[in-house]
Amino acid sequence: MNARITGTGSSLPSKILTNADLELMVDTSDDWIVSRTGVKERRIAVAGEYTSTFASEAARRALSMSGISPEELDLIIIGTVTPDFPFPSTACIIQNELGAHNAVAFDVSAACSGFIYGLSIAESFIRSGKIKKALVIGAEVLSRIVDWSDRNTCILFGDGAGAAIVEASEELNGILSTHIFSNGSHWNLLYQPGSGSRNPASDRSIDSKLFFINMEGNEVFKHAVKAMEEAAMAALEANSMKASELSMFIPHQANIRIVNATAKRLGIPMEKLFINLHNYGNTSAASIPIALDEANRQGRLKKGDTILLDAFGGGFTYASAMLRWQLDSNQV
Ligand code: UT7
Repeated sequence: MNARITGTGSSLPSKILTNADLELMVDTSDDWIVSRTGVKERRIAVAGEYTSTFASEAARRALSMSGISPEELDLIIIGTVTPDFPFPSTACIIQNELGAHNAVAFDVSAACSGFIYGLSIAESFIRSGKIKKALVIGAEVLSRIVDWSDRNTCILFGDGAGAAIVEASEELNGILSTHIFSNGSHWNLLYQPGSGSRNPASDRSIDSKLFFINMEGNEVFKHAVKAMEEAAMAALEANSMKASELSMFIPHQANIRIVNATAKRLGIPMEKLFINLHNYGNTSAASIPIALDEANRQGRLKKGDTILLDAFGGGFTYASAMLRWQLDSNQV
């Protein structure tokens, strides 16, 4: 049995935070942010909006495109580092909101690689014959763990969610391969020190700002480019393909310089890149499924296209997926 994507969806907060807005909050400039990161604006959740708010809306849109009902789902996976609560899983909350009573639901913690990790788990469950229909989501409200007085990090991140329906198929096409990797030796270059068992909530942990993202930007940058190249090469080699044969490359939307450096090392021309980070910033696990849904709904993906997804995130985690697109434009 093979697995293929039969629907995509995304959902973003309506509130926009521009670089001009950030200039009023920290010592930065639009010029610096655009030249160092490529980000022009990002979407930010307002009071009453949570990770599950955007995740469930993205899921509804993906379900509607695929034409299946929530009761048909066997599996719901959400990649997120900003769940609604440490427990229960946000996936269980989504299961309830959608009425997907027959699904097993759980979260995956793989930072920015969370969506491809989820896709890989769904693909494996389908290939083994264990399940037939899965909902895979990447969703984040990073704005709640960003220190809005730290110019090194607050300019980078944004909120949102993207989703895909993955179904069993007897055709050979669809998800051609997934590769997932972990390298825990650098876990402390990008992490959230507070909120777990090491630094639970206390006056000290709050005063020391342990609940905010802690990142060694320069180091993360170097590892990201190498790891994304490695993950992409694994996908190309497994499918006996050259980079020149790809129809589209959808990298994790981390930073335009990381994306360009990775594409250059792989020999992928700029016109094959799908980039939307100027509008949304880095939305971690949500970035790839939001980009996939936008490319899909903009009619940029044609039946038979070969699409490479490539991610890198805290952990470190990195991952790739090679897709042979199966949706006709009239199904979108
Ligand atoms: O999904 C993976 C998540 N993480 C990432 O993708 C992050 C990867 N890293 C990056 O994207 C980059 O390292 C950053 C965009 C975070 C920073 O860019 P950089 O080119 O590595 O800058 P830098 O940290 O080397 O800083 C250069 C200078 C410093 O000033 P001095 O020490 O040279 O005087 C910083 O203090 O830029 C300063 N700086 C800023 N200036 C204006 C840092 N942030 C800002 C800012 N506005 N927002």
